Amino acid sequence: MFPLRFLLFGSLASLCICQYYDYDYEPAPQSVVSAPHCVQECDCPINFPTAMYCHGRNLKFVPIVPTGIKYLYLQDNQIEEIKAGVFDNVTDLRWLVLDNNQISSDKIQSGTIDKLGSLEKLYFSNNKLTKPPGPLSKSMDELKLIGNDLTSFPSGTLSGMENLTTVYLSKNKLTSESIAGAFKGLKSLMLLDVSENKLKKLPAGMPSSLLMLYADNNDIDSIPGGYLAKMPELQYLRVSHNKLVDSGIPAGVFNVTSLLELDLSFNKLQSIPEVNEALEHLYLQVNQINKFDLASICKFTSPVNYSRLKTLRLDGNNITHSNMPVDSANCLRQASEVIFD
Ligand SMILES: *[C@@H]1O[C@H](CO)[C@@H](O)[C@H](O)[C@H]1NC(C)=O
Ligand SMILES: *[C@@H]1O[C@H](CO)[C@@H](O)[C@H](O)[C@H]1NC(C)=O
Ligand SMILES: *[C@@H]1O[C@H](CO)[C@@H](O)[C@H](O)[C@H]1NC(C)=O
Ligand SMILES: *[C@@H]1O[C@H](CO)[C@@H](O)[C@H](O)[C@H]1NC(C)=O
Ligand SMILES: *[C@@H]1O[C@H](CO)[C@@H](O)[C@H](O)[C@H]1NC(C)=O
Repeated sequence: MFPLRFLLFGSLASLCICQYYDYDYEPAPQSVVSAPHCVQECDCPINFPTAMYCHGRNLKFVPIVPTGIKYLYLQDNQIEEIKAGVFDNVTDLRWLVLDNNQISSDKIQSGTIDKLGSLEKLYFSNNKLTKPPGPLSKSMDELKLIGNDLTSFPSGTLSGMENLTTVYLSKNKLTSESIAGAFKGLKSLMLLDVSENKLKKLPAGMPSSLLMLYADNNDIDSIPGGYLAKMPELQYLRVSHNKLVDSGIPAGVFNVTSLLELDLSFNKLQSIPEVNEALEHLYLQVNQINKFDLASICKFTSPVNYSRLKTLRLDGNNITHSNMPVDSANCLRQASEVIFD
């Protein structure tokens, strides 16, 4: 029955003047013959009947999603609007992928995304959102809103999402004020990406569960004293392409044992900030560093006290190998890459 249905689908589709797309019909390969419940302009693989693939089909609207679908792929279309009713039969939808469309915040009707009470993943990058969609389900675990026009991100947006692990907000227009308080109280957050925004300081009130914080390409000029002490799990901190100056780096602010990678490249630092011996990768290229202060890397050097640094990049500064003190080798015992130019 499926091969027959496939043939019928092919011939019907070539006749249909469809509201959703205006492309030349290309038959789907045999392996993705759709399950019987599928919407005509999409594919629901027989062996994965809870998924509906509607990506890259020049769709202008979200089709009415049939009962039983839990994973919905709508990326790479020209969708401008999410109309009421389209998700009425799938309020238990788990994944919704809307990347690379033209959807603006005012074109998301209520009773759509806000009714998806089991939503876990929402990928909504490269659209025209000015504020986060929702209110979103408390069951969210991943939210991607990269490359929109977000200027606001109200403090309650993520509240109660105890399983939320990953939030990508890069390439928007968020300010420090607009995200104030937005991440407070999240128990499971591991990754927050706020790079390429308009932040003047690192986000406040970070959950203690955070492993990765990416804030490259903002306007950050300082880091508050004790900032990292509140994130005992943090391993990766990226603040490259900002406006950090020595006076904005309080003594000991990076002296935390959890940190493995610290990227402070493309800033305005004139000295190597003090780091903990446990740090493995330190990126300081393209700053204004003009001296090699070994004490910033090793306070004491002994058989047990030495730096775990593997990578140290100092290229694009006013410093060369000749600035390295002779006893550096005792401290930088594991450094396989110390780059000056
Ligand atoms: C939605 O659910 C109703 C009631 O179960 C059903 O009659 C209708 O066919 C469903 N629509 C779709 C598109 O699945
Ligand atoms: C978080 O995940 C647990 C385990 O999967 C689940 O029992 C709980 O309901 C989830 N919390 C929310 C708010 O969905
Ligand atoms: C850095 O932290 C360690 C413990 O984590 C502490 O023993 C040491 O005194 C600190 N160094 C400075 C300069 O604050
Ligand atoms: C190792 O460094 C710590 C401070 O970080 C210091 O208190 C301790 O005495 C040093 N141990 C040795 C063996 O040098
Ligand atoms: C670069 O370093 C040299 C020697 O350490 C110093 O004489 C010079 O003024 C520095 N230049 C700048 C731009 O800091």
